[in-house]
Amino acid sequence: MSDAQKKFYLTTPIYYVNARPHIGHAYTTIAADVIARRQRTLLGESNVWFLTGTDEHGQKVQRSAHAAGITPQQFTDEVSAQFRALWQRMGITYDDYIRTTEPRHVRGVQKLFSELYSRGHIYLDTYTGQYSVGEEMFVDGPPGTIGPDGKPTETVTEENFYFRLSAFQGQLINLIESGEFCVEPEARRNEVLSFLRGNVNQATDSDAPGPDPQTWVGASQKSAENTIAYSAKGTSYLPGALKDLSISRSSFDWGIPVPEPAASTSQKKHVIYVWLDALANYMTALGYGSENPDDIARLQKFWPADLHLVGKEIIRFHCVYWPAFLLAAGLPLPKKVQAHGWLLFEESKMSKSRGNIVRTETILDAFGSLKPKPVDWPGAPLSDEYWKHEQDLFASDVLRYFLLREISFGQDGSFSFDALVQRYNSDLANGYGNLVSRALSMIEKNLEGTHPELHLPATPTLAEAAQKLWNSASTLISSIADDFTGIRLTRVLTSISAFITEVDGFFSLSTPWKLAKSDAPQAREDLRAVLAVTAESIRIITALLYPILPYSTAKVWAQLGLGDIEAAAKNGGLNHLTWGGLKPGTKLGPLGPIFPRADKGLIQIMTNAEQNPIAPAPSKLVDEKTTHTAPPPSESTHPGAAPRTSSLPHDNPGTQVGASSAPVPELAKPPAPHQEAPASGIFATAAAATDPSQENASITIDDFVKIDLRVAKVLVAERIPKADKLLRLEVDLGYEKRQILSGIAQWYTPEDLIGRRIIIVANLAPRKMRGLESHGMLLAASHGKDGKPILATFAETDEIELGSRLS
Ligand code: MSP
Repeated sequence: MSDAQKKFYLTTPIYYVNARPHIGHAYTTIAADVIARRQRTLLGESNVWFLTGTDEHGQKVQRSAHAAGITPQQFTDEVSAQFRALWQRMGITYDDYIRTTEPRHVRGVQKLFSELYSRGHIYLDTYTGQYSVGEEMFVDGPPGTIGPDGKPTETVTEENFYFRLSAFQGQLINLIESGEFCVEPEARRNEVLSFLRGNVNQATDSDAPGPDPQTWVGASQKSAENTIAYSAKGTSYLPGALKDLSISRSSFDWGIPVPEPAASTSQKKHVIYVWLDALANYMTALGYGSENPDDIARLQKFWPADLHLVGKEIIRFHCVYWPAFLLAAGLPLPKKVQAHGWLLFEESKMSKSRGNIVRTETILDAFGSLKPKPVDWPGAPLSDEYWKHEQDLFASDVLRYFLLREISFGQDGSFSFDALVQRYNSDLANGYGNLVSRALSMIEKNLEGTHPELHLPATPTLAEAAQKLWNSASTLISSIADDFTGIRLTRVLTSISAFITEVDGFFSLSTPWKLAKSDAPQAREDLRAVLAVTAESIRIITALLYPILPYSTAKVWAQLGLGDIEAAAKNGGLNHLTWGGLKPGTKLGPLGPIFPRADKGLIQIMTNAEQNPIAPAPSKLVDEKTTHTAPPPSESTHPGAAPRTSSLPHDNPGTQVGASSAPVPELAKPPAPHQEAPASGIFATAAAATDPSQENASITIDDFVKIDLRVAKVLVAERIPKADKLLRLEVDLGYEKRQILSGIAQWYTPEDLIGRRIIIVANLAPRKMRGLESHGMLLAASHGKDGKPILATFAETDEIELGSRLS
């Protein structure tokens, strides 16, 4: 099948409307948006369908509405609108937004129920059990059992419709074991298989703080016969361990009514269990249950889903119940369910019930402020609304980058404002942004803003380094393709980040600012070559980063002189990347800062905003009117679709934002370029000190440039209580300040250190010691038998700017 004929349908969970959106919800939606954008660059716009929405039925919603003194419909209208307004602010490019209270969904769910009923998979029975209202599920245990939401369960006796889930045990095990129905990551697949096999005690992820698998309704109890069966792959399971599932409720009415003929078999009025209702959204949104030919065609084109992206706590609903419903209805199964971990805040899952949520709006507002509206803009005047949206999209990029880079996709990870600011400064302002600004401003100044022809420098060492960069770029392009396919989103970013460091190292090594001062023909030639190689590397980095940073890469693309990145994404211009795609003679666009540096004050601003949240405006619904007060979406493929482009149509905003003539926010001051050769052997001495066996091992320049060595000044040094060996330092890198912990307290007093200019490894992953984070490492030589560290420092008389890079 050619790329053009393939399709990709991906979904997020539909979010409960009982809580306002927070960054936990944004996390899944961001990941889905990244995948959708990447898929569109590969398959084209029309072959990708990205669905999100809200889950609006159930007792929990009914009770919340009651507490708020409004009807459930009013309540859901309001919260659902908040979700949509947030996705709009963030430039999320969903193709459709489904609400479970919409008629198209209600109709589809009733059709699915009827299908299951007519095929004999549903029967009526009575059940008394413990019900967790918070999680909308029955749990095993005596009255008063603590449910998965941490609250006591309620005893519920109900005549219910049951789904014959038990009949699908063996089939589901086979489908998952064979990979035909793919569950990722492996820990989650094992968890689901354990549950299905009746082997719950082997659930692999014992560290997961989520619902205890043993409390799941239908959790394993040995079957009466205690017989063992075997799957097609030969693994054993206990038949009967998977119990039938109650799929209706009659104790409340905020849900989709059970349809006829099933309904009249009971004395009571039943609504369909909220999870059967909710899961069906993935098909009803495409058109399941509709007679309309367009809906039928869409359903045929896109079902089955290629990817359901979910948080790990709802894996069972997606990997046991949902496939069983589909098998019973004779419908194809989704190809893959991918679970990610949780965002933790202060060590526990961020959730409304724990009261430890962080609102996305706080981050959008704070980072948006780094791009104040220019007072005087050449050309058309800018509306406040237009600029606000620019700010939102910029800030949304920051959050996208942070969440995917900082939290290993699939694992749990902590969120903190400190880490957000730190990561932004180190990777975006000082890393990518600084590289772009240094390289492009040299092209502007020295080559009249025109890209030179791509060729290797004449100087052999530079030619070798450039060739290596070229090789690395090719390796990067293919590894990123694999990582996107495997949804290893954090790896995508760590690989790009390593390449940025490599390019930065190449740039520093080549000292183009020195070459520019020389009139010698070889120096001129080298200068052109170095700038061409760097610009080409930036082009590749930018194309690869596009799905993650759609707004900022659009700005860089325009500065490179390549025009509109969204257009390139649409017409295959970001696909099949190869080294050498930047045409010589291309003129740069207007330059300007992409990632203004954030100072630490932003941390306090965000902390304060979370402590004193401004109450939401009452009933600010996103109806046609509200969505259109923001600048209009450029294009959409469906009435429910979000704006497709990340930037808004406005006289080529991509190039205007960076216009050098416009008063733009304070230009990020790059760390001083390399100024002088470091004292030779500093690094080698430090490395040898820790591992003498490495003394003679050689490393390549590629290895070396990955290490970001910088000059820093010690501002604060202090002992850490109860830690004899550790000192806590605050160092100034010129472009930022950071905390470093160092085990030198036996040899240096704090007074010895304050004011000294030292060398640090600036791109070391943060490490926690004694509850404090260390962001870097000091370089020291090891002296004598006891290995006394002697710090590598600069003399008072050395003229060296803080933040200078050593190479
Ligand atoms: N309504 C159900 C899903 C039905 S899908 C057919 C539901 N809704 S929810 O509002 O609770 O959202 C759950 C999803 O939101 C999680 O699966 C996850 O994708 C996301 N997250 C909510 N809180 C989160 C964190 N703290 N961390 C990471 N993701 C989080 O369950």
